[in-house]
Amino acid sequence: MNSSSHTETPPAPAAGIAPLLGVVARVAARLAATAHPEDVLLEVLELVRAGLAAEECGVWLLSPAGLIRNWGVGDFEVPVEEVEVALDSAATAEGRAAVIERLVAADQRLGAFVVRLARRWTDDERAGARAIANVLAPVLVHAQHSHELEEEVALRTTQVSDERRFTEKIIDSLPVGLYVIDREFRIQAWNRKRETGMQGVSREEAIGRTIFEILHRQPAELLRREFEEVFRTGRIQQFQMESLATGDLRVYRITKIPMRLADGPVTHVITIGEDVTDWKEAEGRFSQAEKLAALGQLAAGVMHEINNPLATIAACAESLQLKLEDLAAQGIELKGDYHELLTIVDNEVHRCKRIVDGLLDFSRPKTVTKSLVHINQVVEKTLFLLKHHVRFKKVHVHQHLDPELATLVYASEEQLVQVLMALLLNALDALGDTGTIIIRTRPGRTATEAVICEVIDDGQGIPRGEQSKIFEPFYTTKPPGRGTGLGLSICYGIISDHGGRIEVDSIPGKGSTFRVILPGSEGV
Ligand SMILES: Nc1ncnc2c1ncn2[C@@H]1O[C@H](COP(=O)(O)OP(=O)(O)OP(=O)(O)O)[C@@H](O)[C@H]1O
Ligand SMILES: [Mg+2]
Repeated sequence: MNSSSHTETPPAPAAGIAPLLGVVARVAARLAATAHPEDVLLEVLELVRAGLAAEECGVWLLSPAGLIRNWGVGDFEVPVEEVEVALDSAATAEGRAAVIERLVAADQRLGAFVVRLARRWTDDERAGARAIANVLAPVLVHAQHSHELEEEVALRTTQVSDERRFTEKIIDSLPVGLYVIDREFRIQAWNRKRETGMQGVSREEAIGRTIFEILHRQPAELLRREFEEVFRTGRIQQFQMESLATGDLRVYRITKIPMRLADGPVTHVITIGEDVTDWKEAEGRFSQAEKLAALGQLAAGVMHEINNPLATIAACAESLQLKLEDLAAQGIELKGDYHELLTIVDNEVHRCKRIVDGLLDFSRPKTVTKSLVHINQVVEKTLFLLKHHVRFKKVHVHQHLDPELATLVYASEEQLVQVLMALLLNALDALGDTGTIIIRTRPGRTATEAVICEVIDDGQGIPRGEQSKIFEPFYTTKPPGRGTGLGLSICYGIISDHGGRIEVDSIPGKGSTFRVILPGSEGV
């Protein structure tokens, strides 16, 4: 049995049990070293079966359920008691056709080795069967252990990958961009949100590379400093940044969170990027609305105080004017420019009244009558009113009213006319002497933004830094006497009251677009 070629060839039955033992021993050695002992074990059984021309040759194993599994002839279960009986009788029955040897290793009962012949056993064969059982027992223990170990490893592996998938699912479901870097600035986690969008980078590409390679558009030094700050202080850092990466300007809130794998220094930094553009806008609108409400209360409080003296001044000016006319009728001409002075007083009083009236627009509660109106009709009505305005004669006003626009708005027509008028007058002021104004209507995309009306001019435009201020009450760039700075804030208040919003896009030197967005009557 020295040559390996013999090991693979089952000996002829005539050779008996002796040569078989050597083969079995060698196969058993292989068995101990393999990760799949069951296959080799089956080989051993096959060798014995062929060597002895046995009718049955198998291993019955004790299973945790207390039953026996037959290994070698296919699976079936035998109650333990039956096996115990079989073992006891086999031990005493000399020369029987079936030999059942206990498989015991280090006091551990494993089961039995069972060989059934069609003839009587020789003594040698019986001794051989016992010897095989002795070889098999420790191997089986080993096989069982490695089997259990394998199952344990497989179980743990699935558990770990399940847990991993679960955590990945969590971070992928977050509506924020998230990534994690280690001390070497290498990316260790990169979520789904960071993979999508125009600047998206796939996870495969990002993991393992340094953050500077991936976010190469951002200044590396600045990034490094931000991360080092978190590594050093162990404190959460939060800031906002603007980005044009998606095409239009978006505002992101960036949060850098320290992470420690064990007690001790920070090992990783988690970075979360959240698009807060809409939130910022909403916040801006909210504070604007608050300001307007406060102004409304103030206006309501002072209106009588100012209106009454104004009325007195106006009345006095008027009676002085009449007196002057009386004197003139009597042929008495006073020296001095009294007429002119009285006209100034009158004009200024009216200007004050306009300001007070403007302020009153903010005061609550207001009685406005709302009805179902069509924005195209509002535009036409406004243009009809402005048609005769001398300044409008010099500019081109184009109407692009969508005839298909069917959605009605539930609104105060009077107030909408007031809004469009204020926007058109501003456009006119922006144009100077000549230019073009387009007034356009079109449907929006959702029920809450169903109707859009734009006033577009090619005038001077609004500097970027000023765009956030124009809706503030009293903000004006017009010379004293020309503008009160209330027009847009009144528009803002009216449109908010209607559940809509007003936006501006402007390029200095090129022109501005004011966009009124209103909900459809069903969306209110
Ligand atoms: N179409 C526009 N083009 C350029 N700048 C504009 C435009 N519309 C408004 N603005 C700017 O916004 C400011 C505020 O406008 P708003 O209508 O509130 O007040 P105003 O026009 O100055 O005064 P008024 O109270 O008489 O309307 C203006 O002074 C102007 O600087
Ligand atoms: Mg104005």
